[in-house]
Amino acid sequence: MTGWTTADLLPQTGHYCVITGATGGIGLETALALAGAGCMVLLTGRDPGKGVRALTTIRAAHPDAQVAFALCDVASLSSVNRFADGLVAAGRPLDMLINNAGVMALPRRELTVDGHEAQFGTNVVGHYRLTARLMPLLRAAASPRVVQLASLAHLRGRIVLDDLDAEQSYDPWTRYQQSKLAMLLFALELQRRSDSGGWGVTSLAAHPGLASTNLFRRGPRESLYARLRTAVIDLFCQSGAAGAWPTLMAATAPDVTPGGYYGPTGFMETRGPAGPARIGPNARDAALAAQLWDRLAAMTGAVWPEG
Ligand SMILES: NC(=O)c1ccc[n+]([C@@H]2O[C@H](COP(=O)([O-])OP(=O)(O)OC[C@H]3O[C@@H](n4cnc5c(N)ncnc54)[C@H](OP(=O)(O)O)[C@@H]3O)[C@@H](O)[C@H]2O)c1
Repeated sequence: MTGWTTADLLPQTGHYCVITGATGGIGLETALALAGAGCMVLLTGRDPGKGVRALTTIRAAHPDAQVAFALCDVASLSSVNRFADGLVAAGRPLDMLINNAGVMALPRRELTVDGHEAQFGTNVVGHYRLTARLMPLLRAAASPRVVQLASLAHLRGRIVLDDLDAEQSYDPWTRYQQSKLAMLLFALELQRRSDSGGWGVTSLAAHPGLASTNLFRRGPRESLYARLRTAVIDLFCQSGAAGAWPTLMAATAPDVTPGGYYGPTGFMETRGPAGPARIGPNARDAALAAQLWDRLAAMTGAVWPEG
């Protein structure tokens, strides 16, 4: 199906979804729509105050919403482990995991508490670990899906396997592009491994096109040029709610293709209703995806099912 909007969102009663970075932007819009459709949504984020405000926003729109907030800072493996261990102990089968949290084009090289370059560490490393740790809950659900947030930026991305943490060189956009390409490679590799291992998980990716959220507002502002560029991009952005359509389609539409990638179908995939999106040749490199997978496993100590 193409041309998907929230008008196509089916009832989600009885489903359970975890969303990372759900306290604002596309994550919050995704949570709002899913909760409105009857899904039990666990919003996660790194700021409990924003979590409370996000729950208030959802309950104001949908008084019967089944929503909760839990702390999960994806830039910290100990935070990810703590959150995931708690969830696994609670034991509820997980129908949807949406790996949405992200930071973009940090002007200077920053490190996570685990010593990873902050864009790679936040956008990729934490989500890889989280997904592996939540596999028992996903596999216990009837028809589980994992959705990774990628970006148009992946098309210009390159994976620097021997310098994933940018110790040798750092450029804000190059590292953002790398992180988003990595998320798409991860999604496609997860589908291949799920198929070969019989894990039963449908793995998908989505991108919002250009959506007006805090992502661009927090982007590089160190020069007049950078501020002007952000202002111009903002002019072309669709709403955050529309930016959530590809994620929602990937997470819920009955006819998605396993290993599929979804994005806006309007002008150059920047806006409009959701449908299949273009996967760059760099993301179709299965050998590279397997190498990245192994690096991430070594970085995080993640253990995947045997079969
Ligand atoms: N907006 C676009 O046009 C666009 C385009 C392509 C891809 N994307 C992708 O879409 C996703 C959502 O971005 P957005 O546009 O909604 O940006 P946003 O408005 O900045 O929202 C990002 C969310 O991620 C959270 N987050 C950041 N670091 C985190 C961490 N360490 N742990 C947990 N949560 C964290 C933020 O929480 P805080 O408020 O606490 O920082 C916020 O809730 C990202 O993966 C982004 O790369 C967006």
